[in-house]
Amino acid sequence: MSSPTFFPQDIIIKKRDGGALTKDEIEFFARGVSDGKSFADYQATALLMAIFWRGMTPQETAWLTDAMMRSGEVIDLSDLPGAKVDKHSTGGVGDKVSLILAPLAVACGLKVPMMSGRGLGHTGGTLDKLEAIPGFKVNLSVPEFRTILQKVGCAMIGQTPQVVPADRKLYSLRDVTGTVECIPLICASIMSKKLAEGIDSLVLDVKFGKGAFMKRKEDALTLARAMVEVGRAGGKPVRALLTAMNQPLGRAAGHTTEVIESIECLKGRGPADLMEVTYALTGQMLLLGGKAKNEADARQKIEAAIANGAALKVFREMCVAQGGDPKVIDDYKILPTAKKLLEVKAPAGVQGFVSEVDALKCGHAIMALGGGRAAVTDKVDHAVGIADLIKIGEPVRAGARLCTLHINDDAKGARADLSAIASAKAEAFIREAVKFSATAPKQEPLIQDLIQ
Ligand code: URA
Repeated sequence: MSSPTFFPQDIIIKKRDGGALTKDEIEFFARGVSDGKSFADYQATALLMAIFWRGMTPQETAWLTDAMMRSGEVIDLSDLPGAKVDKHSTGGVGDKVSLILAPLAVACGLKVPMMSGRGLGHTGGTLDKLEAIPGFKVNLSVPEFRTILQKVGCAMIGQTPQVVPADRKLYSLRDVTGTVECIPLICASIMSKKLAEGIDSLVLDVKFGKGAFMKRKEDALTLARAMVEVGRAGGKPVRALLTAMNQPLGRAAGHTTEVIESIECLKGRGPADLMEVTYALTGQMLLLGGKAKNEADARQKIEAAIANGAALKVFREMCVAQGGDPKVIDDYKILPTAKKLLEVKAPAGVQGFVSEVDALKCGHAIMALGGGRAAVTDKVDHAVGIADLIKIGEPVRAGARLCTLHINDDAKGARADLSAIASAKAEAFIREAVKFSATAPKQEPLIQDLIQ
């Protein structure tokens, strides 16, 4: 039976007027966008804007996800033995959980096929962090991905051009037409990529707060529910944790600084908040993959894998398999190193507690130092960033260290002034980010909900 033919304008008008699209119409859209023939960019953006305002039903969202997923290669890992479980985070500042969680989950018996993204704006990206490790390759082919998964148990790579081409096109259009912040479109974008990875199940970390994509908890909850539902419709169990992202996760943000903090976590010396989120997400992965009887059992296995060095061993093996220098584990100096360290200190008169460490402003500080990306084509400086960051609730007095900025501001000649301004700007962002109170502030829980 030949598939029905549609006219893009009819589909746009239907959605513009609040109608629900059919499966065939949605498939025509996804196909037309990826082959660049039957849906022109201006028509696709008109439809995206109509979806932005009119929304999509859960059924439409599931169909869109499925059609986008099938716009390219769907990786089949069914011949690899073991439960294949991935984790995806909607992103934040200092979120280096993937670097710790993937080897940890493997050490507890899972396989973790992970396709990650790059940082954009104030949020960091796993691929950029991994590339701080000398030699580490993230642009691997699907056969290479599969070989490493088989050998090591986890592999962390960038999306290949063959996977979900419809999202590549649609995301680039959304990025420049004010249609990014739309829950059905975000859900289809994320889930189409995850379902194309060959996973059996998925854990989501949906963040909300100052440094997250979703500022409001209600929106994060709606997104989490939509993604869990789409996973169910696609036959894959999905669980989502709702986690707060008002202050950066851990004490480091950047690339080199986050790699160091991740390795410290694998050595059992991680900061409490980062370990809490990592353990909770890994625990849900073990439950989904049938490697733990309950949360307490999962926790015990996870703690053992850190304590006996099994997780660190997997990290080392993954580094070797992906071309990275494993010496990094014992010698942080081989990572890209900033020329200068600047301690930002609490101003005169301060005596009390830290009441706020605004994650968005910390992200802006990293952008000012050259560690972020304003456009997808920008290069990032892996060496710059934030370390030793003070946390909400900690006691503080005048002159105490708020953080250490890793700075590369030794530009010469015409650029000297600009680089000095950049580090002054970064310091100013940190000063705006950290606020103080006379009494200990009320701490918000880091993990606020589980949706399954
Ligand atoms: N991340 C994605 O991959 N897609 C979106 O639409 C938003 C965040």
